[in-house]
Amino acid sequence: MKRINIGICGLGTVGGGTFNVLKDNSTEINARARCEIAITHVGARRDNPECNLSETTVSRDIFSVVEDKDIDVVVELIGGTTVAKDLVLKAVQNGKHVVTANKALIAEFGNELFAEAARHNVSISYEAAVAGGIPIISALRDGLSANKIEWLAGIINGTGNFILTEMRDKGRDFADVLAEAQELGYAEADPTFDVEGIDAAHKLVILASLAYGMPLQYDKVFCEGISKIEPADVEYANELGYRIKHLGIAKYVEGKGIELRVHPTLIPESRLIANVDGVMNSVLVKGNAVGPTLFYGAGAGALPTASAVVSDVVRVARQLASGAGIEGMTPSLGFDDTALKDFEILPIEEAETAFYLRLPVVDEPGALSKIAQILSDAGISIEALIQKEPAEGENSVPVIMLTSRVQEKNMIAAAAEIENLSTVAGPLTRIRVESLK
Ligand code: HSE
Repeated sequence: MKRINIGICGLGTVGGGTFNVLKDNSTEINARARCEIAITHVGARRDNPECNLSETTVSRDIFSVVEDKDIDVVVELIGGTTVAKDLVLKAVQNGKHVVTANKALIAEFGNELFAEAARHNVSISYEAAVAGGIPIISALRDGLSANKIEWLAGIINGTGNFILTEMRDKGRDFADVLAEAQELGYAEADPTFDVEGIDAAHKLVILASLAYGMPLQYDKVFCEGISKIEPADVEYANELGYRIKHLGIAKYVEGKGIELRVHPTLIPESRLIANVDGVMNSVLVKGNAVGPTLFYGAGAGALPTASAVVSDVVRVARQLASGAGIEGMTPSLGFDDTALKDFEILPIEEAETAFYLRLPVVDEPGALSKIAQILSDAGISIEALIQKEPAEGENSVPVIMLTSRVQEKNMIAAAAEIENLSTVAGPLTRIRVESLK
């Protein structure tokens, strides 16, 4: 049986998981790869007590892995975009195939890295970069390759979903749940990546490029996190029959371009994806032939992420063992490089969604009708409304509305007018609503 040598750079949570999955499941893995996959070199600043490294060369300098002549595939699991970028570039320049779980690296530098890999006739694979253990990259690249993708929407940040779930189910405080997510190892090294939507934006850009066959364009994603979601909004959404989820949405708009947006979203509680809770991820993809398809699984954690990393290792090893070049492999973004399209990425002001509005309204006759008039003048109808009684000693009441679909720029203008009313006692909270049908 031919042997393919693997070098793993980084032996933290995901690196350790990958090492152990490759060892523990080697019988099944080798049979699927049609070759023996051997981990012959590990580069890590420190050992991982979960891994038995007795049969493997270990270097403290990770670059010695990419310089190792015997290595066929380098698995980059150090994270970040500085050293990791140099490492991946050096690996492909040395003629090594690369497997990575690094979403920031692919989203921000993927175009450059794929081009360099193509110049050196090697591949860069990144199944683990999006939605942890869910094989969504291969689903988009291969399983759904018959389709034009109409839209996709995903819960692609486990930490954010964990926070929103705990706020809703247990009424817990945002900061308290975030601290727990950090302790459990779900959150990024810098948790603002999770709560401000940056991590989800990285992942969305990758999914969108695979769905539509376009270069990665991280700088064009509209990105809003969950840090401004208040417990009251979670409760009112429930009352209206909705759940608040942090979604990454990519949508093709006929004749215009692609919407790329990450933001908290109210979705009807009857949708399967509305019931994806805790650290779990899920991606809903609507293809024009297949219709809606829903993918679900663990979005983070050592073994689920390792499952995705190893699937790439198996695919690449099988290809190498067969003696075929990279021409027979699926291209990096699913589409032939020469067929990538320059779709316009639409500004958020052009997006059309329904809205959840919450605003404090002075408790006096006619206050509500002025708001309704402004919305009606902007062509926005009110689909549902909740008005609470004023609390003891308060002269304003929270009014909550669900509106019809409207272009965002029209909602922005109407909201500014509403906030200017003397009968509106404070800022208006606005959250987008999607039916995901
Ligand atoms: N911080 C990420 C998340 C880890 O919570 O989803 C997996 O990419």
